Amino acid sequence: MRKQIVAGNWKMNNDLAQTEALITELKKQTKTSNAAVMVAPTFTNLWQAYQSLKGSNIEVIAQNMHFAKNGAYTGEVSASMLKSVGVNTVILGHSERREYFNETDDMLAKKVDAALESGMNIIFCFGEVLEDRKSGNHEKVVEEQIKNALFHLDSSSFFNIVLAYEPVWAIGTGETATPEQAQDMHAFIRKTLANKYGANVAETVSILYGGSVKPNNAQEIFSKPDVDGGLIGGASLNAEDFFAIANAF
Ligand code: 13P
Repeated sequence: MRKQIVAGNWKMNNDLAQTEALITELKKQTKTSNAAVMVAPTFTNLWQAYQSLKGSNIEVIAQNMHFAKNGAYTGEVSASMLKSVGVNTVILGHSERREYFNETDDMLAKKVDAALESGMNIIFCFGEVLEDRKSGNHEKVVEEQIKNALFHLDSSSFFNIVLAYEPVWAIGTGETATPEQAQDMHAFIRKTLANKYGANVAETVSILYGGSVKPNNAQEIFSKPDVDGGLIGGASLNAEDFFAIANAF
């Protein structure tokens, strides 16, 4: 059975006090979701968030990490540093990292290897820009992103990997992919996995959708057979909205 997951990517939002306030609100939400629920605060607040959410059903995850174990990489954070503050899952390949911080497929392949070597779980993001969608290249672009960063792995690595399809044109824009567009792409991703690793791997990897998921559209998107949950940006900064989404299966 594939795992249903709703993960909140808080991006570069919320200082320590705001993080604590949001966590207090999250802990008040009584309707527990059937999905695995995760939140990704910024690095400086991971330890506090981990402490505050210990014993709850909400996992604290990181938004990024470096591929090196340690060393002269000013401003960076390693897998072992994340693990030392209770974090066992990391988001890699987010389009904002690719666009603003020049993260390439090669670099992401190294990050994937480093995370897996450290025993971490990965939410691996990818997605096409609007021009690719308009020109009909979206499947090719997504296939390349997946192949270049992940297809050197053996099939057992996929026990620790969740995929997140986030069309760049739908992130923070209020424009969501239609449930059919999401389903078509997720089915294509599963087919791509099946061609390389076989049906078993393809059927067991969770594939999340991200891009303007809100309480009023989550249910329809999550109802699609190949959509196993969501990676939520803006709406995850409001506890009530986030839990409405986490309960939209
Ligand atoms: P929005 O939900 O704000 O569109 O962001 C999606 C996202 O980038 C999650 O990683």
